Amino acid sequence: MTENNAATPHHQTDVLIIGSGAAGLAMALRLPEHLDVLVISKGKLVGGSTPWAQGGIAAALNGNEDIEQHIEDTIRAGVRLPDRDVVEHVVRAGPAQIEWLESLGMPFTHDNEHGERLHLTREGGHSQRRVAHAADHTGRSLTDTLVTAVKARPNVRVLEHHNAIDLITARRLGETRDACLGAYVLDIQADRVVTIRSRYTTLATGGAAKAYLFTTNPDSATGDGIAMGWRAGCRVANMEFIQFHPTCLYEPRAKSFLISEAVRGEGGVLLRPDGTRFMPDHHPDAELAPRDIVARAIDAEIKRLGIDCVYLDISFKGREFIESHFPMIHQRCLEFGYDMTREPLPVVPAAHYTCGGVMTDLHGQTDIPGLFAIGETAHTGLHGANRLASNSLLECLVFGEAAARRIAEAPGEPAEADLAIPAWDESQVTDPDEAVVVTHNWDELRRSMWSYVGIVRTTKRLSRARARISLLRREIHDYYAHFRVSNNLIELRNLVEVADLIVRSALNRHESRGLHYSRDFPDTNPRADHFDTVLIPPPARPYPQVRQDRSRTAPPPEE
Ligand code: FAD
Ligand code: SIN
Repeated sequence: MTENNAATPHHQTDVLIIGSGAAGLAMALRLPEHLDVLVISKGKLVGGSTPWAQGGIAAALNGNEDIEQHIEDTIRAGVRLPDRDVVEHVVRAGPAQIEWLESLGMPFTHDNEHGERLHLTREGGHSQRRVAHAADHTGRSLTDTLVTAVKARPNVRVLEHHNAIDLITARRLGETRDACLGAYVLDIQADRVVTIRSRYTTLATGGAAKAYLFTTNPDSATGDGIAMGWRAGCRVANMEFIQFHPTCLYEPRAKSFLISEAVRGEGGVLLRPDGTRFMPDHHPDAELAPRDIVARAIDAEIKRLGIDCVYLDISFKGREFIESHFPMIHQRCLEFGYDMTREPLPVVPAAHYTCGGVMTDLHGQTDIPGLFAIGETAHTGLHGANRLASNSLLECLVFGEAAARRIAEAPGEPAEADLAIPAWDESQVTDPDEAVVVTHNWDELRRSMWSYVGIVRTTKRLSRARARISLLRREIHDYYAHFRVSNNLIELRNLVEVADLIVRSALNRHESRGLHYSRDFPDTNPRADHFDTVLIPPPARPYPQVRQDRSRTAPPPEE
């Protein structure tokens, strides 16, 4: 390495947490106060999917029997693919996580009749009421609670508007032993790339549902952590299992606004335009069947009848009930001209949750020493082929704590602490010439994913998607290699990588299971009950963005 290209990092920390959602903030709070912690977010501190969460946090708060049932419900919803050890670990930890949040002041809704007890709501796939919540704005209250606690912790620093581009690893710097050393990050407001050196790094960047044209997720859900982990050499698993939430408001101005599953949990029914119910024809649990089944049933009704949407009706519960249980949803629907206390709401499914991700162990440790992945970015083995409703926030909390404990207990300095990190080099790139390339490819990618890799799949459609994504991937990579990075470009580069992982995983699964339904393989293969779709990353490549040598900017190989 030349004098020139080695540099003092702009920031140095014990633990770098990339992402300030439930997972990242929970981890920051669980780390011991003698460690310096740096949390970065590509947006504001309050961002990501977490503030949008509605239904609640699943936890077996009804005693030992409930623990066993929560375990079984999770495995049943995940169609026998979840890892039982992981499920047990997470479910058993649930009640303590709720207690911890209460100790931080989380304003859970309480049961009016009993005062002391939390009100538990119900959602699809749960055999009983088990979802702790703060009315229908659980995510907002959870975020407020965690943010308040983080602000009171002097050892936790936060950098907003800092978009992580890539991880810095020892192997990518030419070492034979691997370790994560930090990340290159775009400081969006200063429009410069900074180097962050850390003893430990955590990917807590949320999911990738933005790969689809219609999604409940905020714009930040571009799969950055999954793509960064993959490029750095982590295995990625089960990306074919993209969850579509059955009920988003069918209203273009609402950008797929979610109507919580708790609406069905509290008695809401799904109707055809003629007012007849259809879920009882599809599953014995009707509207409370697991989410994959309800989404598929709605999709089938829409296609069979040639209609734009179906309807969700809870108006018969009365104004008082609806206003107290669903104040936020009711208000938002009113803004679009729908009064759910008087009429059914038009609803359609939209991409909602990424069940797969960067593979980790029970502590959130990835394949690379010093690198953790938690929350929606990770594949821990909890969700299998379909996540049980409200198990996501629970997973964020449990793995945030587990990763923090692992770091707290780790001995001394990692071995690669003295490796020099090259500065980001922009000497061979220029300002982008045609931003339209980025916007066009962004749109084409998301449309292709929606049309060819949606709720019902075929091998032909998946192959079509693969071919288109391949072209886009080359074009985007080429653009990335020649022009200065921007926020949009960083996200698009990640999104195309993740879309490719989703399609490849879907092509590899020769059965239908949970969220992956293929017309060419309509049955579930019992012999595949315990087989995740694991993709092995290509050998670690040098950084194309450290542009010392143009020949390094050839497109990455298509595995
Ligand atoms: P997020 O909360 O998505 O946070 C990701 C963070 O990473 C953000 O701060 C973002 O800015 C940052 N980031 C991303 N990329 C980068 C980068 N390159 N550099 C720097 N920062 C980056 N789950 C439940 O359990 N219960 C529910 O009721 C529920 N309701 C939901 C409702 C909606 C509308 C949605 C969208 C999801 C819901 N979910 C629910 C799912 C759940 O909210 C998410 O899975 C969970 O919040 C993910 O948390 P996270 O910390 O992993 O990521
Ligand atoms: C919802 O409230 O329906 C979302 C719950 C979840 O995604 O777990």
